[in-house]
Amino acid sequence: MNYSMNENGDIAETQNVPFSETNETFEARKVVIHIKNLQKSFGDNHVLNGFNLKLQEGENLVVMGKSGSGKSVMIKCLVGLMQPDSGYIEVMGKEVNTLDQTQLDALRADIGFLFQGSALYDSMTVRENLEFPMRRHKEKLGDVTDTEPLVLEALENVGLAHTMNLMPEELSGGMKRRVALARTLILKPKVILYDEPTSGLDPITAKEIIELMRSIQKKYNTSSLIITHDVDCARVISERMVLLVDGINYAEGTFAELSASTDPKVEAFFKK
Ligand SMILES: Nc1ncnc2c1ncn2[C@@H]1O[C@H](COP(=O)(O)OP(=O)(O)OP(=O)(O)O)[C@@H](O)[C@H]1O
Ligand SMILES: [Mg+2]
Repeated sequence: MNYSMNENGDIAETQNVPFSETNETFEARKVVIHIKNLQKSFGDNHVLNGFNLKLQEGENLVVMGKSGSGKSVMIKCLVGLMQPDSGYIEVMGKEVNTLDQTQLDALRADIGFLFQGSALYDSMTVRENLEFPMRRHKEKLGDVTDTEPLVLEALENVGLAHTMNLMPEELSGGMKRRVALARTLILKPKVILYDEPTSGLDPITAKEIIELMRSIQKKYNTSSLIITHDVDCARVISERMVLLVDGINYAEGTFAELSASTDPKVEAFFKK
C-alpha cells in the first residue's frame, strides 16, 4: 500500500486496493493535527528543539515526557495560547500561526481543551461553568435559547447530571475533573486535547476518567491528544505514543513497542 501526502498534510491512498482477505479497509486516515519542527525557548531554556507530531482522525495519541519537558508548552502553542519561535502547526487544515483572532476563536470552538487541573470557575455553579463556552462560541450553536438540554446531556456523559446546581467547592477532585470534561464536550469538539487528565487522582478515580475518555471517543469519534505521565493511562488509552525527550519527538510507537525498548531514555518511562 502506498500513501502520499498532499499540501494539506492529508494522507491519501495512491492506488486503489480492493478489500483484502482479512477484510481490512485500508482506510487512509486524515491528519487533524500536524506539528513540524516546533521550537520554543524561554531565554536560555530551550524547551522545544524541533518537535514533530501527527494526530490522525479518530486516533488516541499519547504524548509522554517528564515534568518540565515542554508538554504543556507544546499544547499551548497548538491552540495559539503561546507563540512558538518557529515551526509549522496545522490543526484541522488551518495553519494556526496565520489565523487572526476571529479565525482562532472559530478553530478553538472545534477543539476541546481539558487544562491541567480542572480549572473550573469557582464562583459559578456547575451549570454556569458549562454554559460559559456556549456563550463564548454562540456562532457554533446557532439559535440555542434553552441551554439546559445541552448542559444535561454533557453532564450525563460523565455521570454527574445531579450536580448541575452545585458549586465547584461542593465537588470532589474527581468530580471536578469530570465536570471539566463535560464542559470540554459541550461544544462537541472534533479534537480533544487532554493535559494530564488523571494527575492528582487516586488510581480508581483515574481509571474512571480513562473509561470516560474512551467512551466519549467512541460515542463522538473524536481525535484525542493525551498528555500524561501516567503509564497505566497510556497503556489503556493509546493507539500510538510519542515520547518527548530533549525537546524532540524522541521515540514513537505503540505502547507494546516502546515498553519493550532497550533505549535507556525510553526505558526510563516504563520503570515503576
Ligand atoms: N510562560 C513561561 N515563561 C517562562 N518559562 C516557561 C513558561 N511556560 C513554561 N516555561 C518553562 O518551559 C518548560 C516546560 O514547561 P511545561 O509546562 O511545558 O512542562 P510540562 O512538560 O508540561 O511539565 P509538567 O509535567 O510538570 O506539567 C519549563 O522549564 C517551564 O519552566
Ligand atoms: Mg504540563
